[in-house]
Amino acid sequence: MLRPERIVVLTGAGISAESGLATFRGDDGLWEGHRIEEVATPAAWWRDPETVWRFYTLRRRALLDVEPNDAHRALTRLEREGPEMLLITQNVDDLHQRAGSGSLLPMHGQLRMLRCEQSGRRQERMSEADLDARVFAECTCCSTPSRMRPDIVWFGEIPMGMERIHAAIDALQHGDLCLVVGTSGHVHPAAGIAAAARSVGAITVLVNLDAPVNVGDFDEVHLGLAGDVLPELVDAWLKEWSDV
Ligand code: OAD
Repeated sequence: MLRPERIVVLTGAGISAESGLATFRGDDGLWEGHRIEEVATPAAWWRDPETVWRFYTLRRRALLDVEPNDAHRALTRLEREGPEMLLITQNVDDLHQRAGSGSLLPMHGQLRMLRCEQSGRRQERMSEADLDARVFAECTCCSTPSRMRPDIVWFGEIPMGMERIHAAIDALQHGDLCLVVGTSGHVHPAAGIAAAARSVGAITVLVNLDAPVNVGDFDEVHLGLAGDVLPELVDAWLKEWSDV
């Protein structure tokens, strides 16, 4: 492949699986043990905030026990040594940040952050008190402290950063690269990014454990563990691009 001018990367839960975080739709996936309507919708938060808070507190706490893996680190290397890149992630963990990714767009929100229900302001809140599943966290921005909700995009809500995502795809030219890693292709608008990138002439490359529903949108498909496949792929690309 010739050196692209720009790269857009999309990652999903599969890239963090080797760090020990459950994916959503696999056996033992998060959506096997929970009904989406009970924990990941605005209606669930309104009806039963205790259950939603418990679910997200467990996931927030889990961040303390995991580390980035070789696949996260390979994307950091691609950003540092390759052409201009935007990394869009559907993941709400902080493993890309901790691996050193700079140009990062977490389109489904972040577990580390909470959002004031009153003002909509976000704060990074990971203290021990903020990780208590029995007590809601309160904001420090309102005169009467207000309850905070997880800063997560729930089903029925609009993903974050859509303008930046559209702009990044619009900026892709013929021969640029769209790389997708570890996602089942079930959830839109993320699942449409590869097709959109291909329609403007980008080369679409997939790294995934098994074929996702949108496998037909990719020019190149690498099936395997992201932690094995991605470092080799990035290494090969960087060598190829430096030889030209
Ligand atoms: P899924 O659980 O739907 O899919 C994970 C994908 O990763 C599957 O296709 C697996 O084959 C693949 N996979 C698993 N382990 C892997 C590994 N070690 N290396 C490479 N691939 C691996 O997760 P997502 O597609 O990320 O949204 O889910 C998309 C969205 O649906 C999530 O962001 C979440 C969820 O509902 C919200 O909560 C808004």
